Amino acid sequence: MSRPSIIPLLKKDHKEVNALFKEALATSDNAGDKRTQLFSQINEALTLHTRFEEENVYPLLLEQRKTKEDTLEAEEEHAQIKHLLSDIAETASDDERWKPKIMVLAEDVHHHVKEEEKAGGLFEELKKAVDDETLAALAEQFQASKNAAVS
Ligand SMILES: [Fe+2]
Ligand SMILES: [Fe+2]
Repeated sequence: MSRPSIIPLLKKDHKEVNALFKEALATSDNAGDKRTQLFSQINEALTLHTRFEEENVYPLLLEQRKTKEDTLEAEEEHAQIKHLLSDIAETASDDERWKPKIMVLAEDVHHHVKEEEKAGGLFEELKKAVDDETLAALAEQFQASKNAAVS
């Protein structure tokens, strides 16, 4: 049996963050504590996820002529996402702009995830670019970085 690959783990992360966005967008301006808690989960998840991709996944795609440009674009999208995260971190959770800001972040993440997951997208290209051993090693590394973040 082949070892688990990094790709389903990254996709699972995408799904979990999407669920957190849905929850956050359903809150009202007086649900300050809930919003703070949800935002900190979103912030942690996206920070860990984008860092892992940038350090361990994207370099493999930057090496390939075919995927270089799309990967550079993905890195710029990460930068934009992080900019939005730090902006929201400074926004009071009862601010009328809190939800619109979360909405824009959710849309940006949604677009970015599509570019990674779509047919011919970065994840499919990653699968073509490296062997199963590498995908499995990345999965283990990702799991370890998640465990380290939790403890
Ligand atoms: Fe990404
Ligand atoms: Fe991703």
